[in-house]
Amino acid sequence: MVKTLFDRVKNSVKDLKKYQPGKGLEDIKDEYELDNVIKMSSNENPWSHSRKIKNMIHKSKKGFNKYPDSDCSCLKKALANFYNLSRDKIFIGNGSDEIIDLIMSLFVEEGEEVIYADPTFIKYRLAVKSRGGKSVKVPLTEDHVHNLDKMAAAVTEKTKVIFICDPNNPTGTTTNKRQVEEFIDKVPSDVLIVIDQAYYEYVTDPNYFDGLEYLNKYPNLILLRTFSKIYGLAGLRVGYGLGNSKIIDLLNRIRSPFNVNTLAQEAAEAALSDQNHVQKCKKKNKEGKTFLYQALEDLLLEYIPTQGNFILINTGIKADVIFHKLLSRGIIIRPGNIFGLSNWIRVTIGREYDNKKFISALENVLLTRGEKNDYCNENT
Ligand SMILES: Cc1ncc(COP(=O)(O)O)c(C=O)c1O
Repeated sequence: MVKTLFDRVKNSVKDLKKYQPGKGLEDIKDEYELDNVIKMSSNENPWSHSRKIKNMIHKSKKGFNKYPDSDCSCLKKALANFYNLSRDKIFIGNGSDEIIDLIMSLFVEEGEEVIYADPTFIKYRLAVKSRGGKSVKVPLTEDHVHNLDKMAAAVTEKTKVIFICDPNNPTGTTTNKRQVEEFIDKVPSDVLIVIDQAYYEYVTDPNYFDGLEYLNKYPNLILLRTFSKIYGLAGLRVGYGLGNSKIIDLLNRIRSPFNVNTLAQEAAEAALSDQNHVQKCKKKNKEGKTFLYQALEDLLLEYIPTQGNFILINTGIKADVIFHKLLSRGIIIRPGNIFGLSNWIRVTIGREYDNKKFISALENVLLTRGEKNDYCNENT
């Protein structure tokens, strides 16, 4: 049989499914004939970014006819001051998504293993698979936290990287500082440990593993943080990695030369300089969380207490059914089935109005439930 070009696409990519970011707001408005739709599905910051960003855009003197600064020098300098770290320990990426991909490109060859929790951030699976790597998934404990003992025990000769998503997406749970310290000690030093702290700024738990102080001690540790969440810049795509300068150097060798655009670099720097905005959003997130906890308890629904800006809720109804019912009421959430959680939904904590609208829509859906297909037997 004659081979086509498509037969020759890498096997690891052939059956890869595209990441499903969810439908756009305008499509949903048209489909359901709605004037207003609230997006509570992607854990973005509903209070948006600092006002400083608007001023910065007006005043920016940078010409967009020129390529961006390949080294992100100003942003790196600002982050180096902010964390009191040397610049060679900082890698800036086109979102932390890009850094996850680059880490896979740097370490993972066909058949090599990457360990991560189940359920966790979906991107890890896609990044591993597209490199031909093997995902080793370790279920969370009954308390929905990373099972660090089992993760350490899963390390083999073939293990290259371990992801710890902290706070974990979709559960919102964090790992305990002492347990992470013990875990890092146990893992062989030739295995890279990536702690993805995309929601780091929202954390209120005093026992959280911040990680910065361990970077010198453990050269196999990388922390991933982002401007997409509390800084409200998801649309501009800036994430960063903090870690050993040799790994940072290698990542710089394989990235595309102008991976972070000019506007994104300037905006991230301005956002970092407005820590009042960060604190304000953290406080509002906490207030929203308190409201939602109470409302969910009133509805007698199980939820997992969160350290992030999203809550995982067990509605007892099939996730895709509730997803469509909420959608028709103008609320977009993340159905848990994409994480293997058939009767859970993940909801981003919104503004006061969003949270109230979500709860009233949810209550309405629960009151009108009853159709046979609504229920789910699996207790995932
Ligand atoms: C745990 C986690 N890590 C990384 C990301 C990606 O962040 P970025 O926008 O910086 O690519 C997300 C986005 O939702 C996330 O939930």
